[in-house]
Amino acid sequence: MEERLTILVGTMTGTAQLVAEEVADALKAQGVAADIQVMDGLTAAVFAPGGAFLICSSTYGQGDVPDNAQRLFADLEQKKPDLSRIVYGVIALGDRTYAQTFCFGGKRFDALLQSLGARRIGEIMLHDASAGTIPEEVAVEWIGPWLDQFREARDEAA
Ligand SMILES: Cc1cc2nc3c(=O)[nH]c(=O)nc-3n(C[C@H](O)[C@H](O)[C@H](O)COP(=O)(O)O)c2cc1C
Repeated sequence: MEERLTILVGTMTGTAQLVAEEVADALKAQGVAADIQVMDGLTAAVFAPGGAFLICSSTYGQGDVPDNAQRLFADLEQKKPDLSRIVYGVIALGDRTYAQTFCFGGKRFDALLQSLGARRIGEIMLHDASAGTIPEEVAVEWIGPWLDQFREARDEAA
């Protein structure tokens, strides 16, 4: 069976989109089809088919999800769909200059999805824009071990 997952992108200035594209390429090289969807206009219905997702989101405002993610986030909060058929990973982009709200965009998605019954695979990837590391490089390194854990979880479930 072909492996596939959907990468949902929350971004203000495009970094998370770039990260998603590089991660999708790395996944394709491992035989996984990754479909990138920017969050603009998405609703909770995006999770209805079930399956595997990567949330790739930056952080804005007072630790908020980016503007293009607000609708999806609010719709999930309001409709509270049962996401127990969903597994997911989180790539959270932020900046430690915002010490009180570091990477809260991705962390808030994580807390919300868990509260709706979804199962997170692996640890959240946290990228600090002040660290001098390139987010897409960090993400491509992170995705290899994540994919191993994803496959282990899938084999356990089979
Ligand atoms: C106005 C503004 C507010 C931000 N607020 C936060 C924040 O509260 N917490 C955090 O960790 N990063 C914060 N950031 C950093 C961004 O999340 C980070 O630079 C990210 O890499 C941007 O990704 P994007 O281009 O995909 O939007 C903020 C950046 C800006 C410009």
